[in-house]
Amino acid sequence: MKISIIGAGRVGSTLAYTLFVEGLAGELVVVDIDRDRADGEALDIRHALAAGGGKTKVASGDYAATDSSEMVIFTAGIPRKPGDSRLDLLKKNVGVMWEMTEKVMQYNSNPLLFVVSNPVDVMTYIALKESNLSPARVFGLGTNLDTLRFRSLLGEYLGVNPAQIDALIIGEHGDSMVPVWSLAAVDGIPISHFGHPQEVLDDIFEQTRIGGAEVIKRKGGTAWAVAMAAAAVVEAVVFDQQKVMPVSSLVTDYYGIGEICLSVPTIIGKSGIIKYIKIPLSDEEKTKFLHSATILKEAIALKINILG
Ligand code: 2OP
Repeated sequence: MKISIIGAGRVGSTLAYTLFVEGLAGELVVVDIDRDRADGEALDIRHALAAGGGKTKVASGDYAATDSSEMVIFTAGIPRKPGDSRLDLLKKNVGVMWEMTEKVMQYNSNPLLFVVSNPVDVMTYIALKESNLSPARVFGLGTNLDTLRFRSLLGEYLGVNPAQIDALIIGEHGDSMVPVWSLAAVDGIPISHFGHPQEVLDDIFEQTRIGGAEVIKRKGGTAWAVAMAAAAVVEAVVFDQQKVMPVSSLVTDYYGIGEICLSVPTIIGKSGIIKYIKIPLSDEEKTKFLHSATILKEAIALKINILG
């Protein structure tokens, strides 16, 4: 599969390397506004080809080099600085997203668009509207990243393999994200069975919610977990795995929230979004989910004002 990554910054380059190491792309193209940067990242990865069995053809270039990609991944944009919320980035990144989508669509007729740039839910919505692609072909990393963090932290705390934790975060990939405690389990065993006080579990969710910001405070940006969460989505597409993942996509009929992009459990395969699954939520979870949707609706309205 030919995959192009737009943005060779911290996240884009880490993701390129992760896809290379996991052998997920037949061809990988790296594009950045700073052409030297894109060339340097691609060259650095190509230097490792002999160690990886030479499975991926890695190149760099301008938008023309993305021609006929099966998937284009957007990671470019101004990243968060310590103290910034993801929505603070909205004004800065709306124009960038609009321009990237327009340029990609000049060279690709029906690609899958996978958005990682923040605020990811609004950026996914812009990519969808600007590309005019079917909603099934445009999706964002969304709370798949927060869900990965959540499972890792819960696994650490409970002393069980994080891969066996089945706990979801839905809604905005941002401050209003919602943990679905009512369905959380460890290999089918309800989390309540483990007898941990809810305050402790709530604290683990809080560590998840602020997890990205905590990393940014310490090392200036996040990259490893983002790249692994994104690579899992790419893998689900490449191998048509029909995996259920909370990615961001256009949701039109979910607890009456109207048409916005946000994360709910979604089945993903080689054609992109197969369908999303309406899950039962407790009253409290439903209220929080509706609040998260309202925040995103306001952000989309603001984006419309910015773009005119
Ligand atoms: C994060 O949570 C980049 O939003 C990003 O790490």
